[in-house]
Amino acid sequence: MTKDFGNLPAGGSHSGEAVGIDDLSVYVPGLFLPLSGEFSLDRGIDPGKLIKGIGIERMAVPDAHEDAATMAANSLLDLMQRCDLAPEDIAKIYVGTESAVDEAKAIGTYVIGMLEKVYGTGSFQDCSTVEFKSACIGTTLALESLSYWAAAEEEGRVGIVIASDVAKYPLRSSGEYTQGAGSVALLVKKHPRLAALEQIYGCFTRDENDFFRPMGCTTATVNGKHSNQCYLEAIQGAFDSFAGKAARSGAITPKSEECVTDFIDHFLFHIPYPRMVEYASAAIFRHDWLGCRKGQDVELEIGKEPQSLDYEDLELYQAAKADYARRFSKSRHFQEAYLAKVADTAALSRVVGNIYTGSIYLGLASLLELQKIRAGERLCFGAYGSGCSALVFSAIVQPEAETVPSRGIVKRLEERRQISLQEYERLHEGLMEKSLVEPSAEFALASIDHQGYRHYEYVC
Ligand code: CAA
Repeated sequence: MTKDFGNLPAGGSHSGEAVGIDDLSVYVPGLFLPLSGEFSLDRGIDPGKLIKGIGIERMAVPDAHEDAATMAANSLLDLMQRCDLAPEDIAKIYVGTESAVDEAKAIGTYVIGMLEKVYGTGSFQDCSTVEFKSACIGTTLALESLSYWAAAEEEGRVGIVIASDVAKYPLRSSGEYTQGAGSVALLVKKHPRLAALEQIYGCFTRDENDFFRPMGCTTATVNGKHSNQCYLEAIQGAFDSFAGKAARSGAITPKSEECVTDFIDHFLFHIPYPRMVEYASAAIFRHDWLGCRKGQDVELEIGKEPQSLDYEDLELYQAAKADYARRFSKSRHFQEAYLAKVADTAALSRVVGNIYTGSIYLGLASLLELQKIRAGERLCFGAYGSGCSALVFSAIVQPEAETVPSRGIVKRLEERRQISLQEYERLHEGLMEKSLVEPSAEFALASIDHQGYRHYEYVC
């Protein structure tokens, strides 16, 4: 449902000016491991499960000189060069990460140290930085926070939000094939060219043990199936909160037989692995369509939802609900909505894997690379962070979005080097002393000194 530009949202600015995402830049390591072939053979997993059931073909793997800080600095440098930004233009750098390189020092200070090797010592002195840790939702909470600052900014300066993570589970665990690494940097300002935030945020939070990484551990502990369930319940709760706020603000006011999802052109969910966005959208559409025309059409196709009163046995009721959910996700109506509004967001994740807190914005990069978004369309983001929280918010694609130059991400991904299973395992366990590919035109970790301080350099 395309919107009228006369009604572009104020975006939360005191002066009524739109605030949002002006541009973005993506950094992905130059190494990848294919999930079919050597990996699936060694792990005894049918490649069909990994490629279709999970949805990942290739996992990005950081080289020995890479970590969350170098990837963040690389995506920021690229963004600054793309947008012709000078250090003094940037007032704030908020970094979302759950793979921080230090327990106390903000990762953004390392990032600024690296950038100053290019722009000069002290060039970022008048810029503040803070790290947002909240599992995979950290970057989105940083974006929400920065958007309020940007709305009040009167000196023409801009803010940057960077997502940067290495997704890491133990070797041979069921999380192993949902790893990846990468960084996305977002330019946040007034009068954004890409997407103006509507400043409607629906949230959901509760204490959960679905996924966590105790102090000192290098890999995450995950209760896999439980984490999927927490994700679905949290996104559902946040979507309901968003829908209520959107109705009260007058932004989305469905008439009889219409549903909230009719007013949304693209859903961008957090992407721990591509199949998860299918599960998430099935849950959201199914819930939203109840009582609407679409719901009636689905009932004609697959029958009515099971009702608890019709079952004496709880287990039978739960089995019937699970079966209905499976049939819903295969229904013609859902598949049409999924292909039109969701599937394309996972294009890059299929060949990168999970980049944790940046995955949702890798979804936006997918839509931009595929040239799928049009001025006036409404984007609905569904961020999820384990532990757990969800935030659902919306943005309107701006008239200039189609004029922002392409990032050429697909081409860069094709130029990556494929590594062997043995090389991947050595990198994973930190046993590789030298980089597999010498760094070039990028930031690199040079050494870690006896105190644990990290030394970075820009390699020309
Ligand atoms: N061919 C095609 N499909 C196949 C297949 C084959 N040979 N074999 C199995 N499949 C299908 C299954 O049928 C299933 O699909 P359906 O749901 O449609 O039935 C799919 O492959 C997955 O199979 P399993 O459920 O058996 O997968 P699994 O036991 O390996 O667990 C996982 C998957 C839970 C995601 C696990 O990889 C994991 O724990 N990953 C890490 C945690 C995670 O990503 N959780 C997501 C929510 S938490 C979050 O979002 C935060 C974050 O970033 C971590």
